[in-house]
Amino acid sequence: MIYLALGRICHDCTSTIIKYLVSILIVFLQASIWAEDLDYEPVLPMGLDVSEYIVPNDNPMTDSKVEIGRLLFFDTRLSLDGTVSCAFCHSPRFAFTDGLKVSKGIKSQSGNRSAPTIVNRAFSDAQFWDGRAESLEAQVTGPMTNPIEMGMPSLEYVTEVVAGIRGYRVLFKKVFDREVNIEDIARAMASFERTILSGNAPYDRFQAGDTDAISESAKRGLKLFEDKARCNQCHSGPNFTDEKYHNVGVDWDGNTVDLGRYLVTGQAADIGAFKTPTLREIDLTGPYMHDGSLATLEETIEFYDKGGNRNPFLDVEMARPTRSLDMMLAMFEDKTNTSTELTPDEELAKLNLTSQDKVDLVNFLKALGGEGWQHIEPPDSFPE
Ligand code: HEC
Ligand code: HEC
Repeated sequence: MIYLALGRICHDCTSTIIKYLVSILIVFLQASIWAEDLDYEPVLPMGLDVSEYIVPNDNPMTDSKVEIGRLLFFDTRLSLDGTVSCAFCHSPRFAFTDGLKVSKGIKSQSGNRSAPTIVNRAFSDAQFWDGRAESLEAQVTGPMTNPIEMGMPSLEYVTEVVAGIRGYRVLFKKVFDREVNIEDIARAMASFERTILSGNAPYDRFQAGDTDAISESAKRGLKLFEDKARCNQCHSGPNFTDEKYHNVGVDWDGNTVDLGRYLVTGQAADIGAFKTPTLREIDLTGPYMHDGSLATLEETIEFYDKGGNRNPFLDVEMARPTRSLDMMLAMFEDKTNTSTELTPDEELAKLNLTSQDKVDLVNFLKALGGEGWQHIEPPDSFPE
């Protein structure tokens, strides 16, 4: 092709030939750059749905970008006192959470929410328990300037710190072709997070036809999950979440209440509602719920069996109330209201699970531990 084209141009003039050769050279040079930084092709473990894998148009994934993200994710220099990285609270050792009831950041300060796992984040747009970040890119900067988590004084300061490290300057130049800036820091870290996956669990193999992949007990658990225990009303789809917000009553047995989604929307109906979390890797990611109040899967099943905790905003799937929002608000303001019309205990949708049912449900949940994240390890060394 090239030879033929050159032949044709030779009839015109030599300067055109030179221009042509230069343009070919540029194509070759570009090709060699692409060869170094290949487009990242996500290989999804069985059971996940590629059509639900979200990559924003302005942040295509490449191998080198993912690698910068991995370096930053594990780099404690992104915290004020150099002790905390993202991985401190989202550690591969605990399937990307921290094993704590609520997370601890710099100077061992405790926050008030439990760190969720970050496997399969590529399948959600909204991030955090209350969905306040609309994308992974938007989420990344939150913990850096959170005074309890990484404690950096500002995002400008984060940028200065990263730009002050020569190795990062070189990498950013190579991948983004510009100076270090906070948007690209977020893009790289979000791209890395999109590679942390979980699928191909015994459950997926069972669904794909391997009848021996899960135990008889787990099979009964799956049936309960979809039927009598109605878990899949909210924990639905390949990632076991409807991506919606529900008040299942966590917290309402204590003195303080986390208002959850209400803090984002200001809608009274969202009081105490939290995003349905994935259940993949659930056996490894306890303690459970946004406040880490349930230590084990057995406790979690007991919690659902009694229908959650009574509160005026309990989700329709949990209590099936026939109340108007005005009635709910009146109850919220007057917690002592014991009117049988408004808060009868019977309104809780108790599941009436037998002790065997409970064991079966736990065994089913344990069959959701899969693969797609175990290969991720902290870097051997960091840019200097
Ligand atoms: C001190 C512990 C801590 C550190 C450090 C930390 N996180 Fe988190 N992370 C949490 C907690 C706690 C939450 C839940 C907070 C909430 O929902 O309000 C969370 C939520 C998230 C979520 C949302 C997950 C979901 O299911 O919605 C992502 C993604 C995430 N963190 C990524 C990161 C990244 C990237 C970093 C580093 C820049 C980081 N985290 C640093 C504790 C931490
Ligand atoms: C009405 C919707 C809904 C139903 C029904 C439901 N869940 Fe949940 N689930 C949620 C929400 C929302 C949360 C987070 C609640 C919170 O932290 O306040 C959650 C949290 C969990 C967690 C803790 C996850 C984590 O990472 O901490 C487990 C385990 C769980 N649910 C299992 C189940 C099982 C098993 C069932 C059926 C018995 C069930 N869920 C029924 C919405 C639901």
